Amino acid sequence: MHEKADTVAVTTGETSDCESKQDHLTLIDHHNGQSYDLPIIYGSVGPNVIDVRRLYTDTGYFTFDPGFTATASCNSKITFIDGENGILLYRGYPIQDLAEYSDFMEVSYLLLKGELPTAAEKARFEHDITYHSMLNEQIAYFYRGFRRDAHPMAVMCGVVGALSAFYHDSLDINDSHQRMIASYRLVAKMPTIAAWTYKYAVGQPFIYPRNEMYYAQNFLHMMFATPCEPYHVSSVLARALDRILMLHADHEQNASTSTVRLAGSSGANPFACIAAGIASLWGPAHGGANEAVVSMLTAIGDKCNVPEYVRRAKDKSDPFRLMGFGHRVYKNYDPRAKIMQRTAHEVLDALDKKDEPLLAVALELERIALEDEYFVKRRLYPNVDFYSGIIFNAMRIPTTMFTAIFALARTVGWISQWNEMIEDPGQKIGRPRQLYSGQGPRSFKRLNQR
Ligand code: CMC
Repeated sequence: MHEKADTVAVTTGETSDCESKQDHLTLIDHHNGQSYDLPIIYGSVGPNVIDVRRLYTDTGYFTFDPGFTATASCNSKITFIDGENGILLYRGYPIQDLAEYSDFMEVSYLLLKGELPTAAEKARFEHDITYHSMLNEQIAYFYRGFRRDAHPMAVMCGVVGALSAFYHDSLDINDSHQRMIASYRLVAKMPTIAAWTYKYAVGQPFIYPRNEMYYAQNFLHMMFATPCEPYHVSSVLARALDRILMLHADHEQNASTSTVRLAGSSGANPFACIAAGIASLWGPAHGGANEAVVSMLTAIGDKCNVPEYVRRAKDKSDPFRLMGFGHRVYKNYDPRAKIMQRTAHEVLDALDKKDEPLLAVALELERIALEDEYFVKRRLYPNVDFYSGIIFNAMRIPTTMFTAIFALARTVGWISQWNEMIEDPGQKIGRPRQLYSGQGPRSFKRLNQR
């Protein structure tokens, strides 16, 4: 890659034509002395953007931003994050208020439809989601093609992708009614799919959804009940899970959401797009971190081993990182982590597990890391995954299921973002360009000449 300094300069200003004024950023190319005006588009809150859509046509340059660290890939009205100040809003509502006063069904309605429901709208929505929670019976046979020791996320990718082979009447992405049916089906069936993934792994019979139970309660019932005896779902645990689902429901243009949008931009059906999102979420730098946190806390084992792990996390020759720490957007405490920490205390208190060793290790790790210059300088704080695993652990949810639960919570965010994209009149197939640094044209030599 060749870098030539000072060939292009930028200034900001205002262009006026007879009808409107448009703020712009002027780009000056010192190679040819030309200047180009790039329009500035203003967001309602948060950073504004420079519209570079005509940049290549007008100047012959692409922008270069691997990892999208300074690129807005779409225009969205769903979720807002202010990473500097640790703020997260769903449709304008602070996550703290939603976690305190709302529930996952209400948050799902809000994300999908843009406004909080009235009591009647909420009741209707919950009813419709509840009555879509059963799976086509043929899907039960589909599970049997997997090894019992398959990772739940492998099974989730396969089963969710396969929904497109079962629900043909909701595949037309140009029909808003079909899009909404597919959205409801996905939100409704994810708990059943995730719980059955667990049941299949442990060799227990699948437990069918129960319509008298609410969303989180139903999931815990399908996870832990057996046909042999009644199973009572703890209200404390169901409420804690409901809150965890709210905290994970959406998070702007993260890797898996961007994957869903990119897959959907080609016109792929919603079930296939959500399967793509699940695949992206699986990675340890994204949704897989909650599983990695518990493995790490278990490996640390005791508070006195914390300094050694903090030392390793700072050592650049050691690939070890503190899992559950750091975030691309939050350069402050992740607001979800604070709520998660409080929920962890509540759940452990309710279960009379106040002395849970993983919590003691986590609190000590957080204390030491937040005082350490390395973490302070890089503004690395606990993220949403730091405490969620401790709560799941206390609920007896096995570690390999953590990311599957994240996927079930995030489905409503993914599908809301997918709907928004399809409805955007300016939507185009996602097709990034590249900075090519390989060989230029060269003559082909036949095999016998090499
Ligand atoms: N432990 C130790 N050092 C870290 C960590 C960490 N967890 N995270 C970042 N750093 C360092 C990194 O080495 C780099 O240092 P330097 O400037 O000296 O090279 C600096 O902090 C910036 O890190 P980065 O990797 O350039 O930041 P990023 O925005 O590309 O990565 C991240 C963000 C979340 C992938 C990263 O912080 C990480 O790997 N964290 C651990 C995994 C994790 O908890 N992921 C869950 C994220 S939240 C939920 C979700 O999105 O699904």
